[in-house]
This record gives sequence, structure tokens and C-alpha cells, in this order.
Amino acid sequence: MAYAAIAKATEVSGFTMPSDIHTCSLLRTLAASKPSGRFLELGTGTGLSTAWILGGMDEASTLVSVDYDEAFLDIARGELGHDARLTLVHADGEAWIKANEGQRFDYIFADTWHGKYLLLDETLDMLNKGALYIVDDMLPQANWPEGHKEKAVQFVEALESRKDLFLTKQHWATGIIVAVKKL
Ligand SMILES: C[S@@+](CC[C@H](N)C(=O)[O-])C[C@H]1O[C@@H](n2cnc3c(N)ncnc32)[C@H](O)[C@@H]1O
Repeated sequence: MAYAAIAKATEVSGFTMPSDIHTCSLLRTLAASKPSGRFLELGTGTGLSTAWILGGMDEASTLVSVDYDEAFLDIARGELGHDARLTLVHADGEAWIKANEGQRFDYIFADTWHGKYLLLDETLDMLNKGALYIVDDMLPQANWPEGHKEKAVQFVEALESRKDLFLTKQHWATGIIVAVKKL
């Protein structure tokens, strides 16, 4: 897997927001549950989670991964760009979601502001029936700025208020929520 090379390049790059290895493992396991799936990752970073998601996907699946930071995307491109299943998109999350509202996915890993704390309803509307919506970093983190805890609480309440999702909130790894769009 390209993960080791990406992890090394990530250390050098100074990228400070990588997904932890437990999260990555869960992402791969869940990815394998969606053969021929359409996958979306919001917040590529350097491609750590991207590598694991690709690791669980079958050959007929596709993954779109979006980030606005060209330098971080370049690391992902260098290690994963050869994978024909992957489309790396250099775009602002807000602009990308608004331009792609009609698209539907079987699996969304929302790992940046848009798709999680911003434009949540628009993103959840992109889920096919039976699709997975996954977020991490829901347990208090040392790098949370002041006021972020309140944002996290509001985000969970917004998810809980949706009638079209089954939710499981895990006090494990960095705090992971897995939701499935009800059939
Ligand atoms: C938590 S990190 C992603 C970590 C990555 N998934 C991993 O496993 O290592 C969040 C990412 O969101 C990106 N980001 C922040 N604001 C953004 C925006 N408005 N549009 C697109 N990407 C954004 C950052 O560049 C950063 O790479």
C-alpha cells in the first residue's frame, strides 16, 4: 500500500491533520462493503485516508477526493495518481459541493469543514439509500480551537435530528460517527 510512503512525505510536509491509523482501518473495512460503489472523500489532505479507502474498494468502484490545498494534494497525486479509480480534485469544498449537488454516492468520508460543519444537509442529500456517511475527530482533540466543542455538539444534534439516518457514535479512535441512509 502507498500508505507508508505517504506517511513519510506527510511528516516532512508539516501536515498536522492526518487521520489516525484506527480510523483508516475502519474506512477500509467499510469501503469493502460497497462493491461497485461511488465513493466521495471531502478533505484529501496528503492522501492517508484516501490510500486506505482505495485499499477496501473493488476494481469497479470509483473515488472522488477533494481538497483545496495543492501542496498536500501533490503528495496524494504522487503516490496514488496512477490509480484509475481515483479522481483527485483541487477545489474549495463549498464550490465543489454546490456544483455537484445532483451527484449521488454510496460512501462519503467527510473530513473537512464542508460536508460536516458546513453544507451538511446538501452533503447528506448526496447519499444513496443504504449509503455510508463517516466522520472522525468527534472526541475532544488537543488542537480544537476555542468554540469548536460547541460546533461539534451542534453537528451531532443536527445528525440526530435527521429522520433518514441510522447513527452509531463511537468513543473509539478520535471519535467516529458512522451513519447509514435509511432504505
Ligand atoms: C482533517 S484534514 C484531511 C485529512 C485526510 N483525510 C487524512 O486522512 O489525512 C482536512 C483537509 O481539509 C482541507 N480543507 C480545509 N478547508 C477546505 C476547503 N474550504 N475546501 C477544501 N478543502 C479544505 C485541508 O487542506 C486539509 O487537507
